[in-house]
Amino acid sequence: MLKQILTFLKLPSDIRKWLTVAGTGAFAAAALAAPAPIPLTALQALGEKIFHDTALSEPRGTACANCHQAKTGFANLNGSRIGVPLGSLPNAFGMRSVMQNSYSSFTPPFGFRVTEGDVDPMGGFFWDGRADTLAQQAQMPFLAANEMNNKDGAAVVSKIAAGPYAKQMTDLFGKDIFKNSNAAFMRVGQAIAAFEASNAFQSFSSRYDAYMRGEVKFTQAESNGMKLFMDSGKGNCASCHLMNPTSSKPTDNLFTDFAYYATGIPRNKAIPANANPSYFDLGLCGPQRTKPALTANVPTSVNIEKFCGTFKMPSLRNVAQRQVFMHNGVFDNLRDVVRFYATRNTDPKRWYGPTGQPNDLPVAYLPNIINDRAPFNRAANAGPALTDREIDDIVAFLKTLSDATTASGINMPPPLANISINPFSPPAKPLGMR
Ligand code: HEC
Ligand code: HEC
Repeated sequence: MLKQILTFLKLPSDIRKWLTVAGTGAFAAAALAAPAPIPLTALQALGEKIFHDTALSEPRGTACANCHQAKTGFANLNGSRIGVPLGSLPNAFGMRSVMQNSYSSFTPPFGFRVTEGDVDPMGGFFWDGRADTLAQQAQMPFLAANEMNNKDGAAVVSKIAAGPYAKQMTDLFGKDIFKNSNAAFMRVGQAIAAFEASNAFQSFSSRYDAYMRGEVKFTQAESNGMKLFMDSGKGNCASCHLMNPTSSKPTDNLFTDFAYYATGIPRNKAIPANANPSYFDLGLCGPQRTKPALTANVPTSVNIEKFCGTFKMPSLRNVAQRQVFMHNGVFDNLRDVVRFYATRNTDPKRWYGPTGQPNDLPVAYLPNIINDRAPFNRAANAGPALTDREIDDIVAFLKTLSDATTASGINMPPPLANISINPFSPPAKPLGMR
């Protein structure tokens, strides 16, 4: 098991001085380099090979990296234009948008959090939390027909055994590893999970991180955007997308607590499954999973039906790099996302059509949609929660969350701190199908 090591490198004083100048605005023009990657362990290096191997799909051509790329915010449509990705088979579209996988290694196992009578599902992997660990998760795309389409784990393992890095597998796991395809497939999941827990996926190298360390100043728009993001009467974004700019711990700023909410996202009519008007993606209640069992800490008065239509909140780190947003990929730019938050209650027809009624959940589950806190508690006639200018400022703030490793064309601080490996999920049981 890897240990958690957080190592900040001390900055040379000339860089500090330069940054102070940079913080005044001269900074904007500078082209800045990404932090030097931290060397990968042998297990992570194997995971990296597997993650990028396009030979591991049926037909070949689709690697994990096709759908999860740093430069597009760790999610990628793989050539699709409809908000959900294309798999290895022609016209095999996903049911959901690609969930980004940066900072995912901090995700707790799925469970229910109970605070002062409030019950929130949280944790687990995927938009619906159906995988318990990163290592388990990593086996599933290989076998999903609309992703990499292998018939079983053995098919994946035999491709690796015949491929260029088979020796890395035997060096790490012994010469007989390929004789037991279940064990080998479990190792594949572990190697990928270790790679996903590496610095390549969580470098904490964003402009926001530099700001927190007092090394850069925000522009007027960014700083106003952050205020609105945190203001409980305005954006109130931080009440869910957790952050703490005064903390010295970057992990207090993951911009999610991995909880689930139904926020009333409009239907993406371009998703093939949505051609059927009675098909609904209920997140925690399926159809990609069976409903989770409530745990003993949940009051008996609470029914699982209350959580149908909820989806896991992703980290907003690197969000500005993404091509589409939300579990169904219905939005293709951040302005629309923030405008949706600002006007969901006050201009519902804009989002849901003439009825003005949330259109991506069955009527029985509409009461599950959150409406008890800003910006979702707004009276219909109260006007938008945010002005156009304020929306722009929040978008400017969201852009500060892109890591230097991912963002080209966005102002980034130079390499400052390196944070290495965080613990990856414990070994998974081999999984059958998703
Ligand atoms: C065809 C595109 C595609 C490919 C290929 C693909 N993924 Fe994904 N990935 C997705 C989609 C779509 C989701 C969300 C699915 C859902 O929630 O039901 C996702 C979700 C994830 C998540 C969940 C993130 C979180 O925080 O919960 C991780 C991790 C991940 N993928 C890793 C991988 C790995 C590892 C591979 C290769 C073995 C891979 N993906 C291959 C599309 C893809
Ligand atoms: C009640 C909790 C809550 C509040 C408040 C909230 N969000 Fe979210 N946010 C979520 C959840 C849950 C999702 C995923 C929803 C889904 O896809 O179904 C999400 C998704 C997003 C996404 C898309 C991320 C991606 O990778 O697709 C962005 C961007 C975002 N939120 C920004 C904001 C901003 C800006 C605000 C404030 C104006 C805000 N959120 C307020 C819970 C919240």
